[in-house]
Amino acid sequence: MERISISLPERLLEEFDRILKEKGYVSRSEGIRDAIRSYILEHSFVSQLSGDIAGTISIIYDHDAANVLERLTDAQHDFAEVIDSSLHIHLDRHHCLEVIVVRGDSNKIKQLLNRLKSVKGVKYAKLTTNVTEIPE
Ligand code: NI
Repeated sequence: MERISISLPERLLEEFDRILKEKGYVSRSEGIRDAIRSYILEHSFVSQLSGDIAGTISIIYDHDAANVLERLTDAQHDFAEVIDSSLHIHLDRHHCLEVIVVRGDSNKIKQLLNRLKSVKGVKYAKLTTNVTEIPE
């Protein structure tokens, strides 16, 4: 085993510990190991996608973050060819949920996902798809 030390915002750690308690974890290290495993699995799920797909990208972001709206709009315009439509929900005073319906080349969709994830202020971004290799 390797030992690492990481810095986290206090509220993020509190929330993580709350979830660990709810799930019955006795060790924070085990919780972090499982969280990293999920992260890796999610990454492998996305990276194995190929061909044409249809699905949704959900993002949650802080609309007060600098230029976040402009950057998200720019990204969606750059990838308009794989975006069918989007839905915007004002979650609370600061957070917005956007559900983007995507369809087309999986590589383009992955690029879009990464672009959205890289925008500062985006706290969550997930691609969901059940439809791969749409038949002719
Ligand atoms: Ni909003």
